[in-house]
Amino acid sequence: MKFDLSAIKFYGRRKGKTLHNTRKKLVEEFLPKINIARPNEGDEVNLDEMFNNINAKEYWLEIGFGGGEHLAGQSLKNKDIGIIGCEVFINGVASLLAHLTGCYEDGTKYDGKLEQDRVDNVRVFSEDVRRLLNAIPDGSISKLFVLFPDPWPKKKHANRRMIIEENLDVFSRILKKDGLLRVVSDDRNYVRWSLYQLSKHKDFEWSAKKASDWSKPPKDWVNTRYEQKARREGRKPFYLDYKKIK
Ligand SMILES: C[S@@+](CC[C@H](N)C(=O)[O-])C[C@H]1O[C@@H](n2cnc3c(N)ncnc32)[C@H](O)[C@@H]1O
Repeated sequence: MKFDLSAIKFYGRRKGKTLHNTRKKLVEEFLPKINIARPNEGDEVNLDEMFNNINAKEYWLEIGFGGGEHLAGQSLKNKDIGIIGCEVFINGVASLLAHLTGCYEDGTKYDGKLEQDRVDNVRVFSEDVRRLLNAIPDGSISKLFVLFPDPWPKKKHANRRMIIEENLDVFSRILKKDGLLRVVSDDRNYVRWSLYQLSKHKDFEWSAKKASDWSKPPKDWVNTRYEQKARREGRKPFYLDYKKIK
């Protein structure tokens, strides 16, 4: 299953506050080192080539990484995994770059390098993920993270949600058999919606066996900014792990 790229429209925010000098520099100078160019229609990306510097054991994908806390945390803990992050919001991309280089504050000296202790195992697609998904080879992704996706609560906007049949078909195509699709949300309606969409999809099986499997963070979890916000505001996240079974 592939998207009709001529028909896709993006509805979220692409820009926020003006980036301070250090973040601007990170976007101008560091992003090009790890950026994935928009693939031409019909092209396939070569993941082995993309991550040949680390001889990656597996490839993971995070969609809508926001400030990049989870992506930065997972990449630090899993140095033999090539991780692709997609995010359209440029301030979020800049925040990820700050995590990767350790240049958080304005005026921090950026020396063109990753933070000490890091390996070069993250690649970024800073456009609508659907422009990249078509180019990802079948069965190449071992873990796919969709964390705190925009809920689009109005019924008339349901087709803007990330967890819809059309996207699940594509997720299924790119995921390996037995691969993981992790959807996390603190929005009860979105959780209900996702459970329903995924229960209808023949390629995914919910891995939860007991309540703590969805009510508690999984063992390999890394906090995200939205998760912290949800907890501060008294909303409990639901952690839904699905296995790609076909
Ligand atoms: C509610 S935020 C959650 C951010 C992050 N995952 C977290 O938990 O902190 C959802 C993010 O998904 C991004 N996003 C939504 N649709 C996207 C798309 N089609 N391609 C890439 N990013 C997308 C948005 O820009 C936004 O930053």
